[in-house]
Amino acid sequence: MKLNSANINIMVKACRKASKVLIRDFGEIENLQVSVKGPGNFVTVSDKKVEKILIDELLKARPNYSVLSEEVGKINNDEVFKWIIDPIDGTTNFLHGVPHFSISIGLEQNSEIICGIIYDPIKDEMFVAEKGNGSYLNNQRIRVSSRSKLKDCIIFTGGGPEKGAKDMESSLKEYYNFSSKVQIPIRKLGSAALDMAYVAAGRCDGFWQRHLEYWDIAAGIILVKESGGLVTDYYGENKYLENKTLLVANSKINKEMIEVLK
Ligand code: IPD
Ligand code: CA
Ligand code: CA
Repeated sequence: MKLNSANINIMVKACRKASKVLIRDFGEIENLQVSVKGPGNFVTVSDKKVEKILIDELLKARPNYSVLSEEVGKINNDEVFKWIIDPIDGTTNFLHGVPHFSISIGLEQNSEIICGIIYDPIKDEMFVAEKGNGSYLNNQRIRVSSRSKLKDCIIFTGGGPEKGAKDMESSLKEYYNFSSKVQIPIRKLGSAALDMAYVAAGRCDGFWQRHLEYWDIAAGIILVKESGGLVTDYYGENKYLENKTLLVANSKINKEMIEVLK
């Protein structure tokens, strides 16, 4: 089974085209680690190149749609449809030659995400979802995990605490809470989009993080919802963008995670 609406096909095509450049540039990173300048500037150029390919492809197929993309910001066209793009999610991994990063594209209709794609070019894993039609990994249907007790789970987090990060104390407390109240494996893999895709695929049971941007999570929102998971803020509400706290999990552990975060 495969999702093959016109919009999904456009997103897949754009992703495949951009990922060729991304894979080629990733191959250069190893050499740049030992150069005097390091890979910093190269990565910025690569990010922008990938973004340009994605936007060009998406707007070629849908010239009227608007765009919100991490590097270029907003391109305002149609008020109804909008592409939400993160050209490289997991830039720090990419910069250091760690093969775990992704391209993420969401499609919004009237402020609701209706399609999403998260592509890991190194593992050739394409996570795709469409409202009402389910979530897929390389054309196989995926579901969130069915674990019902947090003590049996593996969970992910990301972001702070970095020096000067907003809410550093809160982030540290949340990490401390999970480590002390429930002794379960916690992982920090470095790509929020893939973290959400892994929850959708049942590889991970839950994920929490503060201060994510819309482009980090747009595609992940529909992936998690269409695979039967819950997308909330730390209070169980759907104000994750306003409150800047995101919790995604299977529906059985969502409440327990909220309790631990308190
Ligand atoms: C970052 C990644 C990371 C998350 C950060 C994001 P970027 O996005 O998703 O996992 O912890 O908060 O900013 O900068 O690599 O696109
Ligand atoms: Ca990102
Ligand atoms: Ca990015």
